[in-house]
Amino acid sequence: MKHTHIIGVGGYLPENVMSNDDLAKVVDTSDAWIRERTGITQRHIIAKDEYTSDLATRAGAQALEDAGISIDDIDAIVVATTTPDMIFPSTASMVQHKLGGKGFPAWDIQAVCSGFVYGLAQVDAMMRGGMFKRVLLIGAESMSRILDWQDRNTCVLFGDGAGAVVLEARDEDGGIVGSVLHCDGSYRDLLLAKHAHPGASPHNNRLDLNTDAAGVAAVEMKGNEVFRFAVTKLGEVVKEVLEKYDIQQNELDWLVPHQANIRILNATAKKLNMSTDQVALTVAKHANTSAASVPLALNDIYRAGKVKKGQLLLLEAFAGGFAWGANLVRWSK
Ligand code: COA
Repeated sequence: MKHTHIIGVGGYLPENVMSNDDLAKVVDTSDAWIRERTGITQRHIIAKDEYTSDLATRAGAQALEDAGISIDDIDAIVVATTTPDMIFPSTASMVQHKLGGKGFPAWDIQAVCSGFVYGLAQVDAMMRGGMFKRVLLIGAESMSRILDWQDRNTCVLFGDGAGAVVLEARDEDGGIVGSVLHCDGSYRDLLLAKHAHPGASPHNNRLDLNTDAAGVAAVEMKGNEVFRFAVTKLGEVVKEVLEKYDIQQNELDWLVPHQANIRILNATAKKLNMSTDQVALTVAKHANTSAASVPLALNDIYRAGKVKKGQLLLLEAFAGGFAWGANLVRWSK
């Protein structure tokens, strides 16, 4: 059986940075409250004329370059996103075209903030089965376009960006060890965005409060309940994935968590007895970039030269649905 290795990593954050102080001019909040309750200090916001696929294409191009291959070497593109350019075609098909690819399959997956973790599990299973040799997997979001910028309970928490990995099926051991995925739709009303229309297109610039988009249905969340459930379920799923693959807690080198709130992240690290310097932390600068958050956090520690060949990484995420999961990865670069 083949093993799925990560051979390239990339990321892209839009140029426009919005600090907590900038946000306090838009909505009734403060830098002190946001920092203390979430750990967030700033977020990146997509440019007016950009689409989610533009962010995804840049992250994907960087991952291809890092892998030392071209789009012609890729057999499939999968984009995890909640904020697709359009209802259809898929954002992945836009990315394929923008990267100059043709013919091979490209599709989106939707598991909100758990999209990348779900995508890695799905693609790994397909690659182990011999379906593809090389796949470009991207998590990309323009969350700023589905937020209500007058709702301080939600708008302070999210940001835009994209992260990507190139996966390669090889005979040698290592790479993706395995994954665990869960969903419980009975909690669907605690974190949701009811209407996609007009979606994450540049026409839906909600920051410009004079447009029709401002105030239309957007991300809604019962923050306290989401918080409690996230801490509990993430604590369970990290233990479950270790048990499933017979790995001891102290064998872990890195926790690469979904970046929703520093307090949730710390709670999971504590359950695993991991120190802060073993946790990929980007929530302060990126905020919650949904499906992009795990690959962007991975890109951050990778580009800083912190991840070493042979190290063991635990990726985890929690999302609306609720949908949550974890992947174990033996680093092979
Ligand atoms: N600025 C200032 N005050 C705010 C605020 C903001 N941005 N957002 C909420 N508040 C206020 C509330 O109105 C409330 O005031 P009240 O006591 O007068 O009613 C007070 O702060 C406390 O609110 P509470 O919801 O109890 O705060 P909290 O400590 O639970 O933090 C979240 C709120 C949203 C940061 C936290 O619940 C959270 O992170 N939840 C999970 C979010 C998440 O992970 N979502 C995505 C999952 S993928």
